[in-house]
Amino acid sequence: MYLTDLALSDFRSYRQVVLRLSPGITTFVGENGQGKTNIVEAIGYLATLSSHRVASDNALVRQGANAGVIQAKVVHGEHPTTVEVEIFAGRANRARINRGNVRPAELLGHVRTVTFAPEDVELIRGDPGERRRFLDDLMIQMKPRMAGVKAEYEKVTRQRSALLKSLGAQRRRGGTVDAGALDVWDVQLAKLGAQITAARAQIISGLRPHVAGYYQIVSGRSGLAGDARIDYADSATKNMYSPPSAEQIHDPQGGEAAVRTIINHEDDLTDVELTEVQILSALVERRDQEIARGVNLVGPHRDELVLNLGTLPAKGYASHGESWSYTLALRLGAWKLLREDSSGEWADDGEPILILDDVFAELDAKRRERLAEIVLEAQQVFVTAAVGDDLPEELSGDRFLVHEGSVEPMSTKNDE
Ligand SMILES: Nc1ncnc2c1ncn2[C@@H]1O[C@H](COP(=O)(O)OP(=O)(O)O)[C@@H](O)[C@H]1O
Ligand SMILES: [Mg+2]
Repeated sequence: MYLTDLALSDFRSYRQVVLRLSPGITTFVGENGQGKTNIVEAIGYLATLSSHRVASDNALVRQGANAGVIQAKVVHGEHPTTVEVEIFAGRANRARINRGNVRPAELLGHVRTVTFAPEDVELIRGDPGERRRFLDDLMIQMKPRMAGVKAEYEKVTRQRSALLKSLGAQRRRGGTVDAGALDVWDVQLAKLGAQITAARAQIISGLRPHVAGYYQIVSGRSGLAGDARIDYADSATKNMYSPPSAEQIHDPQGGEAAVRTIINHEDDLTDVELTEVQILSALVERRDQEIARGVNLVGPHRDELVLNLGTLPAKGYASHGESWSYTLALRLGAWKLLREDSSGEWADDGEPILILDDVFAELDAKRRERLAEIVLEAQQVFVTAAVGDDLPEELSGDRFLVHEGSVEPMSTKNDE
């Protein structure tokens, strides 16, 4: 899959920009703050209907404008498709495919991207929510219909937590509490939540070998800590992730005691009906606690993607370089999984577009070279870099200079 055309109007800093694009590597070069990330952010938005750097869409619409528009022509196999999304601050988007109006969710699956960005290192160091988001972005690209399931699930958890809070308040005032009102919400939470947990568990098992393999390649096997291994810890079966205790880590018998006992039960989790039952029974068990705290304690919003390096958790233990190797391994793993994916829930030729936003500046020379070698295999890659950044030699191809809202083709190194 690749884009041949991209047009932005009133998107971020751009009033109007129209670009002709080619397969292979395209680099956007410019001083900081000139609008390089804004371009690749727009491409990523077409794939996930969300930005990789902000939670709300408001910032995507140019200051002073009413709506931002992203339009692209994407080629899958033989057939070009024109996709378009119009983003309004504070209300629902509008979308078109080949100029016909569609629901925005129907855009999902037409453009697929994997984005690498400097803030990605938060996947390792940040809160569990960062890692859930990583899984869910992948889930939505692999199974577009899950975007709707996820939105419904979020609505249910919001309403259920409001009810938990009011039941908790009643109970604290000494009133009788009719907890039966929760039943209908429990059923909904379990039904929707099980689909998300199952989809994520399936992703984890597909991703695990790719992450381990890319970690070895990117780190050059130089890591002392061992192999990268990812796991899923779900909140319902209480197979909850808890970091190893200090005693376990410092056990003189060696690191083995620190290996977490997360049973590899993805096969069970991918069974939607079984997972639904497990969530329901966990909800019954924890109802009192949930009312006392006024919080939903069970469901995919409380599950964890667990990242280990050998016998240690990556978070808190991985060095700066190891954290970057792990980050790259996760993204490259996602790319591989999307490339290989043949579930047929989208058009043929779903090979994702790679976006490397300002990442080369973050990496040491070895990781930079290894990443460059790998991404050369991709059908289309967009790279952004600040003027003067060291880009690996092999990343030739089209170059654009981004300066004060204009994006102009530059002569490439090859032409010089
Ligand atoms: N909604 C918006 N309206 C107008 N300008 C914006 C908007 N969002 C971001 N910008 C501007 O875009 C610029 C940042 O662009 P960005 O693509 O992040 O730069 P870089 O080239 O460093 O990647 C900043 O000058 C910022 O003020
Ligand atoms: Mg940038």
